[in-house]
Amino acid sequence: MTEFYKLLNRDKKYIIGLMSGTSVDGIDAAIVEVSGHGLETAVSLIAFDTFPFPPGVSQRILALCHPDTGRVDDICEMNFYIGHLFAAAAKHILQKSGMPSNDIALIGSHGQTIHHLPREPNTTRYPSTLQIGEPAVIAHETGIPTIADFRVADMAAGGQGAPLVSYPDYLLFHNSVKTVGLLNIGGIANLTVLPADCSPDAVLASDTGPGNMCIDAVIREITEGRERYDKSGMRAAHGTPYQPLVNEWLKHPFFQLQPPKTTGREMFGNTFAMGCLTACRKHGLSDNDCIATLTELTVRTITDYIAQFVGERNPIDVLYVSGGGVHNRTIMQRLSELLTDTAVEPVDKSGISSDAKEAIAFAILANEALHGQAANLPSATGASVRKILGKFVCP
Ligand SMILES: Nc1ncnc2c1ncn2[C@@H]1O[C@H](COP(=O)(O)OP(=O)(O)O)[C@@H](O)[C@H]1O
Ligand SMILES: [Mg+2]
Repeated sequence: MTEFYKLLNRDKKYIIGLMSGTSVDGIDAAIVEVSGHGLETAVSLIAFDTFPFPPGVSQRILALCHPDTGRVDDICEMNFYIGHLFAAAAKHILQKSGMPSNDIALIGSHGQTIHHLPREPNTTRYPSTLQIGEPAVIAHETGIPTIADFRVADMAAGGQGAPLVSYPDYLLFHNSVKTVGLLNIGGIANLTVLPADCSPDAVLASDTGPGNMCIDAVIREITEGRERYDKSGMRAAHGTPYQPLVNEWLKHPFFQLQPPKTTGREMFGNTFAMGCLTACRKHGLSDNDCIATLTELTVRTITDYIAQFVGERNPIDVLYVSGGGVHNRTIMQRLSELLTDTAVEPVDKSGISSDAKEAIAFAILANEALHGQAANLPSATGASVRKILGKFVCP
């Protein structure tokens, strides 16, 4: 523990944040200079990159995510192998920045979610979540103390274990006069709303539904794997969304649930996406029309959520968008069109990189854990109490 006491006394710390989301596109690695903690937190991004998974690894991870293909021996092995890849991503970003590893105080690693079973009505399952990427391997291979497995403490306290970025969002973006929304469009989309001058317990946050996940799955299917996503949203821009199908898909029970709520590949993975593609084909839609229709679904799940649950009480003045979806011009344009009273902007406009934002958040969460600060927001996750998040591993 002496290691940690030494770290605590540093005024400014360099922390590496590591994150791989539900898109399974690669490991985001950020070196962040963090000063202070809690409401005094200030961050500056030193270096960022996405470390792609070696060939075949994304498919192996996706196989683990599904109960029919996720074998226990593969999960056991991949927990350590993904830990090794997270360590490689940390070493890669160190090399890119030219910083020596002993300048780094800590690593905060989200890991790779392979299954997420939040508390749900009408199920007898014990709520649980599983992120792999063994932190002991990361700490050993990098020589840097590592904090990981942030979601489980919130879930143990009755929360959904997500979204966790809403607390870093609060620390970085709360504003005394404006109501700010932070929308991350990864595989799944999640939204934090910070009403003007709000306290932590007034933060509204929830997943809104699929982000890029269904679009990616359908693109892969129709191009037989040649394309992995709709680059810049061009296919959607060249197609026309078929609104009756969008309206039908919006009847999915998840969209009717009261927030806070979380979802993942279990609900909006390949089975859901292939059902959508079949429905599109039944209506004679072209490939680009299918993509446009799924893109419109993503947009409408976000704008309907805002209309239904954020409502007139907390009109959002500015909506900062992050995650890969920020590069999809069709999504960004449709959000602007539908959210007429809100300025929709990439979060980069605020000085935070949209690609790095989630990795930065896990550097902040590691810093909060080091300082013994509770970092879940019960208003966002539904937990019964505030908890210090993360497990510490010494190198
Ligand atoms: N240039 C781009 N144009 C359109 N979509 C993009 C682009 N770059 C990334 N994306 C989308 O963003 C996804 C990755 O987003 P990311 O924020 O990393 O999600 P996650 O957190 O789930 O890994 C990709 O799978 C893709 O759908
Ligand atoms: Mg990603």
